[in-house]
Amino acid sequence: MARKASTLAAEAAPDEVRLEASLRPRRFAEYVGQTAVVDKLKVYVRAAKERGEALDHCLFSGPPGLGKTSLAYIIAAEVGVGLHVTSGPAIERKGDLAGLLTNLQPRDVLFIDEIHRLDAAVEEYLYPAMEDFRLDITIDSGPAARAMKLEVPPFTLIGATTRTGLLTSPLRDRFQIQERLEYYEPADLERILERSARILGVSLEPSGSQEIARRSRGTPRVANRLLRRVRDFAQVDGDGHITRAAADQALSRLEIDSLGLDPMDRKLLLTIVEKFGGGPVGVETISAAVGEERETIEDVYEPFLLQQGLLQRTPRGRVATIRAYSYFGKAAPKGGQGELL
Ligand SMILES: Nc1ncnc2c1ncn2[C@@H]1O[C@H](COP(=O)(O)OP(=O)(O)OP(=O)(O)O)[C@@H](O)[C@H]1O
Ligand SMILES: [Mg+2]
Repeated sequence: MARKASTLAAEAAPDEVRLEASLRPRRFAEYVGQTAVVDKLKVYVRAAKERGEALDHCLFSGPPGLGKTSLAYIIAAEVGVGLHVTSGPAIERKGDLAGLLTNLQPRDVLFIDEIHRLDAAVEEYLYPAMEDFRLDITIDSGPAARAMKLEVPPFTLIGATTRTGLLTSPLRDRFQIQERLEYYEPADLERILERSARILGVSLEPSGSQEIARRSRGTPRVANRLLRRVRDFAQVDGDGHITRAAADQALSRLEIDSLGLDPMDRKLLLTIVEKFGGGPVGVETISAAVGEERETIEDVYEPFLLQQGLLQRTPRGRVATIRAYSYFGKAAPKGGQGELL
């Protein structure tokens, strides 16, 4: 299912791919933040290198734009091996996977993005490859069919997913290393913005960087995207120099508020508050009411609203919190779910 990306959703737009490649950190030293995860990965990489073995399989999860793909690139570079990039939906048949695996050099990294979208038959075929570096293939069909084992070189599978809950547990269990990326602190986003500004040749003042960082919903991809938009406004409306005032003006015109909420975030919350009495309301119902795909709501919008304490997930559905009511300057309904949260 193709996903639409609104201007500020954290997913990469097609025309962003080239820009992202230029801004993508290539080594651990360039990768800002996520220190808890990165410090562990450095140890695992070093240990595997010292033993001359393939690094254990890694699963990275977390909302879009937090640096999962970047980590896969960095790991391959740090281990000093080749990287082969594919995605769950791109591997349509077992033969596609066999082709990928038999083309690997020992210790290479195979990166499967959106690994939760692997075809079920392909996924089962992957299990012995992950565990024992072999493929169980069947030659011929009908009565002449024979089962054969095909060895594949020891390799590292790196899987990325927006939500581990979407993975089957047999697949999840085969990753020895599992790390979840969290939203970034504004200070980390400032460092990312300063690096991007240097690469792009943008004149960014620390106060401008602070303002963009604060409103980038904890997401490097969003920060980089806002930097480009703010640069456009600063160039056309001002002298091209990004100060706090210039950033604030541009972000206001983009309808990004002080928390970093965009129009879709507000529409989503306001729908729960105004149309559904604050909830609980099911995500399918919200999806229909706001005209956004369920998957996008769950992967892109909700995690940030949850993290901000504006939304709560309950077994009966989504609930707007007291903080959401006060955000809109409204009183929470007496005795309503929101009051409890
Ligand atoms: N830790 C970081 N330090 C510096 N830049 C980063 C970092 N993480 C992400 N970025 C920037 O954000 C962009 C998006 O990151 P990346 O593509 O790795 O995210 P992702 O988690 O794979 O997203 P998706 O779920 O959409 O695939 C990168 O091109 C890079 O410019
Ligand atoms: Mg990615």
